[in-house]
Amino acid sequence: MDRRGAARGEDRREVGRVAAHGRGLSAVVLSGGRGSRLGGVSKAALRVGGVALLDGVLDALAAAGVRDVVVVGDPPSPDRATRPGVRVTREDPPFAGPLAAVAAGLDLVPDGEHEVVLLACDLPRSPALLALLLEDEAERSDPAAPGAGRAVVDAAGRTQWLAGRYAVGPLRAAIDAVRAERGTLEGASLRAALARLELERVPDRGGASLDVDTPEDLAAAGRCHDPSMDETSGTPDQPETTRRERRAGHAGTHRPWWHRSVVYQVYPRSFADSDGDGVGDLRGITSRLDHLAALGVDVLWLSPVYRSPQDDNGYDISDYTDVDPLFGDLAAMDELIAEAAKREIGIVMDLVVNHTSDEHAWFAESRSSRDNPKRDWYWWRPAREGFEPGTPGAEPTNWGSFFSGSTWQLDEATGEYYLHLFSRKQPDLNWENPEVRQAVYAMMRWWLERGVAGFRMDVINLISKHVGEHGELTDGAPRADGWGNGAPFYTDGPRMHEFLAEMHREVFDPFPGTYLTVGETPGVTLEEARLYTDPERREVDMVFQFEHMGLDHGVLGKFDPVPLHLPDLKANLARWQDGLATAGWNALYWNNHDQPRIVSRWGDDGEHRVASAKTLGTILHLHRGTPYVYQGEELGMRNAGFTALTQYRDLESLNVAGDAETMGMSTEHLLAGLAYMSRDNARTPVAWDDSPNAGFTTGTPWLSLAPGWERINAAAERANSDSVFHHYRRLVALRRGAAAGQDGIDDGVAALVIDGAFALLAPEHERLWAFTRTLETEGGPREALLVVANLSGEPLEVDVAAELGDAVVLEGASVLVASHADAYGDAAVPDGGAHLALRPWESVVYRLAVRAA
Ligand code: NOJ
Repeated sequence: MDRRGAARGEDRREVGRVAAHGRGLSAVVLSGGRGSRLGGVSKAALRVGGVALLDGVLDALAAAGVRDVVVVGDPPSPDRATRPGVRVTREDPPFAGPLAAVAAGLDLVPDGEHEVVLLACDLPRSPALLALLLEDEAERSDPAAPGAGRAVVDAAGRTQWLAGRYAVGPLRAAIDAVRAERGTLEGASLRAALARLELERVPDRGGASLDVDTPEDLAAAGRCHDPSMDETSGTPDQPETTRRERRAGHAGTHRPWWHRSVVYQVYPRSFADSDGDGVGDLRGITSRLDHLAALGVDVLWLSPVYRSPQDDNGYDISDYTDVDPLFGDLAAMDELIAEAAKREIGIVMDLVVNHTSDEHAWFAESRSSRDNPKRDWYWWRPAREGFEPGTPGAEPTNWGSFFSGSTWQLDEATGEYYLHLFSRKQPDLNWENPEVRQAVYAMMRWWLERGVAGFRMDVINLISKHVGEHGELTDGAPRADGWGNGAPFYTDGPRMHEFLAEMHREVFDPFPGTYLTVGETPGVTLEEARLYTDPERREVDMVFQFEHMGLDHGVLGKFDPVPLHLPDLKANLARWQDGLATAGWNALYWNNHDQPRIVSRWGDDGEHRVASAKTLGTILHLHRGTPYVYQGEELGMRNAGFTALTQYRDLESLNVAGDAETMGMSTEHLLAGLAYMSRDNARTPVAWDDSPNAGFTTGTPWLSLAPGWERINAAAERANSDSVFHHYRRLVALRRGAAAGQDGIDDGVAALVIDGAFALLAPEHERLWAFTRTLETEGGPREALLVVANLSGEPLEVDVAAELGDAVVLEGASVLVASHADAYGDAAVPDGGAHLALRPWESVVYRLAVRAA
């Protein structure tokens, strides 16, 4: 037998294990649909899987007494239509999209109260949709349970084929509703509409349903692979819980999965270098995924790896659908997605669409002539009236860029200026133009199809500019560097909500609750943030606010820092907690690739490095929202400690040096400001161990390592059970509940950490940070956590009743998380709980005894 024949025989046995026992189904729709590969995109796929799968299914259905089968999509074998006693109808829908195909197939199901099985094969384009239709099967932890449908996913987490069982009535009604509303059954709109309707599932009646299994040989062929069949996806440090179990936790609540997730940010150039060129890369990241798995995080936010001239380390993209050779290639990207999926980690891509690189093909076209069709894809303006192009003051507005100088660059060839809020190599896209928006959405869908878990959206609240009726842009008030402040004219602009809602509709609507979206929103107000993140409005899931990050900026800006006044920071975070308590959701962060290291900034990176890193971590993770951990934060990594301008690489830092004189900053002042605030503080290579270059590279690192790496590195941290790393591991586990398998952490803890109402205590105290998280059930008991932290290098006595109020009763409390190992245990609440004595930078999270409400 030839190879194909052998494969078919194998498929027939394995794939075709379709058992319809007992009462036969009355009708079945088998769907490929034109848009799916079964519909013809990949004939190879059909030969390997599709044909044999359908043949096997048809045989089994016929044997089980099914009399009506509709096959939707391209039927490759003519003999498929003949099965004794079975009416096999085929439908070839004129539109793309698997569900649209199903809809067409349903039309051929005879009237009456039938059950219908949707079976769809090899559908990388619609994984989440079908997972939605299959909700309970997809979440089933026991695939062998009798009567279960199955969702089979490939190594990249994409659904390959599924089976589910529905009552025809509601399904058809849903489709009719869409028809009435839109008059079209085009794939995306149908999916979106179906996703909004509560489809009625047919209850499992033991024996009377369809069971589809996965073939080993297809897994070997790399097409259909079910990770749940892998031996183990756990690591020595991590209990073997699957994402399904994690997501299925807190039975009965239908919260988005990212409410109980922790996100870890990787800045690729500084994470791990696999090829010795001194710059981190994708294969380096893949090789270190076990570190993330050991920490327990669910999501990896990947700073840009797209093709880029690297003017701003990748935030200047010249091709959105390719990987820069510096970081690897698309194959390495697929590998990363697949390996992360095995560890239950989803990849969130950085979406940089306020601007592209000036080397992007779109911009090359746009700048090529004033009448190029893509001219309007960017912001082109003539020189200010009465000025010669290129002369001082001729810029169309006086706006100063984020990276120094004007936001306008003259293009000599066409005699007009283009807008760049960031560097001159980052021209702003014109979101007013619908073609731009559609191109961005198409690109986003392309990445979702590749299997990513969502997007972090770079400066997304800058995409809508305030533009007058005739294209006018307005000058801003003068800044310290002499340029104008354009922020009021490009921040949270008039079409922001419209654009985000459109993006949601176009990209995410078909997959409710599936992807994580977080907007980076400099200058956002709480009021706007509530609108952006209110789930009812369907814009983004959460945003990064910046108010707390600005609390130590001085009159000359971020490089002129002032000491932090703790009550301001507490009040700020509390305001956001209250403001997003009933609508919206917080993204919690101290660190990212743009901020200095938190332990150096607001902690103590000397004597109390470990305690202060743990305490700052505790405070953040015990607020309500999704916490973000930036690479190295979990190791207590410190600022770069640079003392000379020549050590810096970041363009913002280097450019500001050019402005220092204008701003009246001495060199000393500037260097102190950079040492405290430069983005390069966060960008030094991750220290993995104490081998040369901290195990980051075998070459010369592109940026020097932060001092102390011989001691402060991942290997040392993981070997020491009292380290910052293990403390973070416990913080991450809190949201996991019992599934985390850690002492003292149960689902009640998770519920409190995720959902507990936040209340700040002792708001004016300049060293104490204290708050509670409380859950009350109507008429039931009241559960609470109390967080107390000493944010200073001096011991702190707390008189509980006087400082925290009578409502806090420590008697009977247990310690849930502590910065100091000896605080765990029975003797945790001395003195009946009337007083607390906190050591320098000590923090404790107490689980208070349950009380009547
Ligand atoms: C915000 C990013 O976080 C930052 O690193 C980048 O320089 C700017 N946006 C421009 O893309």
